[in-house]
Amino acid sequence: MKKTEREEYLEAIQSFLAKSLSYSIENREIIRSFSYDFSQKGLYVIKGESGCGKTTLLKLISGLYPLSQGQIFVNNQKKTASQMCGLVAYVSQKNTIFEGTVKENIFFGNSPLLETEREELIKNISMQEGFSGGETQLINLLRLLYSDRPIWLLDEPTSALDENNRKRVREWLNDKKHRKIIIISTHDKTFDEIADAMIEL
Ligand SMILES: Nc1ncnc2c1ncn2[C@@H]1O[C@H](COP(=O)(O)OP(=O)(O)OP(=O)(O)O)[C@@H](O)[C@H]1O
Ligand SMILES: [Mg+2]
Repeated sequence: MKKTEREEYLEAIQSFLAKSLSYSIENREIIRSFSYDFSQKGLYVIKGESGCGKTTLLKLISGLYPLSQGQIFVNNQKKTASQMCGLVAYVSQKNTIFEGTVKENIFFGNSPLLETEREELIKNISMQEGFSGGETQLINLLRLLYSDRPIWLLDEPTSALDENNRKRVREWLNDKKHRKIIIISTHDKTFDEIADAMIEL
């Protein structure tokens, strides 16, 4: 099947540069001149104590907050916040479940895939009414795994998971990190050994 122009454009994104990003909430500067060159595909882990601004930084990169100070360059081109929204898949610290089945929740907004591939992944979570905090988090992570966006941002992705599921998520991301720029904010040491870079905020 021939690739669309958008698919080709997304695949060509190998890196991005955050330059002097600052962000204030209620006159308090939360992010102070953050610069980092995400110079290749791979897994970047952001660490830092509670309240230091990890979530704020991810929201800034994802385009959820306006880029009022500083710039983001993708393939050497300056991007606006709304353009970043189109390049980033973001899993929030607060997970979301829509009304509907597990499948509908996972494939929401993503292109349909081969049925066999779907079944394989869905086997990992049981079908039932209502979900626990951990199951909700897994569904949100599975939704991300099907995203074609080149930049993935995950905010505390394992906070509600048990040891087995943490390992499972680590394997998924380890498998994907050669094809994406993945940035994780976490207090969890699960990702340390597969991280390509650690960023202390
Ligand atoms: N909507 C808001 N209104 C006021 N202050 C805010 C708001 N959002 C964040 N802050 C403040 O910004 C600072 C950074 O918050 P942020 O959520 O980015 O931290 P964090 O590093 O993600 O913390 P954690 O590890 O607990 O998730 C905190 O001091 C917080 O109180
Ligand atoms: Mg946070």
